[in-house]
Amino acid sequence: MLKYNRNDITLHLQDCVEWMQSLDDESVDMTLTSPPYDNIRDYNGYRFDFETTVKELFRITKNGGIVIWNVADQTIHGSETGTSMKQALYFMQCGFKLHDTMIYLKKNPMPTGGKRYHQAWEYIFCFSKNTPKTFNPIMVECKYGNLNANQKYRGTDGKKNYKVTKRNSHSKVKNVFEYVIGGGHTTRDKIAFDHPALMPEKLAEDQIKTWTNPGDLVIDPFAGSGTTAKMCLIHERKFSGCEISEEYCEIFSERLSIYTNSLMEYLSMPPSKLAQEHPIDSPLPL
Ligand SMILES: C[S@@+](CC[C@H](N)C(=O)[O-])C[C@H]1O[C@@H](n2cnc3c(N)ncnc32)[C@H](O)[C@@H]1O
Repeated sequence: MLKYNRNDITLHLQDCVEWMQSLDDESVDMTLTSPPYDNIRDYNGYRFDFETTVKELFRITKNGGIVIWNVADQTIHGSETGTSMKQALYFMQCGFKLHDTMIYLKKNPMPTGGKRYHQAWEYIFCFSKNTPKTFNPIMVECKYGNLNANQKYRGTDGKKNYKVTKRNSHSKVKNVFEYVIGGGHTTRDKIAFDHPALMPEKLAEDQIKTWTNPGDLVIDPFAGSGTTAKMCLIHERKFSGCEISEEYCEIFSERLSIYTNSLMEYLSMPPSKLAQEHPIDSPLPL
């Protein structure tokens, strides 16, 4: 059932496999999702068929398209389950390339008891259908950018040689992404915290901007409170998704309405300008 449909953002109240079966072959540029992890959260008892989900994702992803799969393991009877790694191997078995195993590092994780260090990170698997067609890397300024470096190299005779080369001014970031989590950081939308397991908005934003361009179609088959959708709206990507829980569909709709109704009208700004003038790290003028 269609629950939300505005500004190129649609949400269906449906099981993820049933919903994906309604999508065309090779029609999706990117999937950005965080499915239920083992049994860490109950989500009102809902389950999903992992293997059919992956097969459907492969069918609907465009050549060069990407699936970002954010997961972590539960610890049961003293052992991590290893589910995340098993899932990654299954994606490969279904034809995806394991393009990049990235890490979502929590700057302020919940303390972990027992004989183990504080659990501070989750996987952000990036699966691609062949070579990614889009890559807009996040760049940072290099400390010694533009300065000359005396670069050492060895010729075929094995002798040391030196060549003066100019250092790059900017470099790609490393594949460990650190975010502060919790109220005001994961999101500033209070309504979103009625959902038990939010993805940080900045994580969604970084991944969407890296692997897609404006106008591309991004989906989330486990849409929850609408984090992926909100970042698509702000960055002018089309979004479609589904969520099995009616309660979470309501949270999604209420949260997205803030951005598609009053805020947009109040500011009279296109989403791209909003993103530019009110980046995620600065408070929105509500
Ligand atoms: C980790 S949460 C996603 C949270 C989301 N990324 C956000 O930031 O709000 C996983 C979601 O998957 C939903 N879910 C569980 N089983 C599902 C199924 N079979 N089909 C669709 N959604 C399902 C749950 O209700 C839950 O909202």
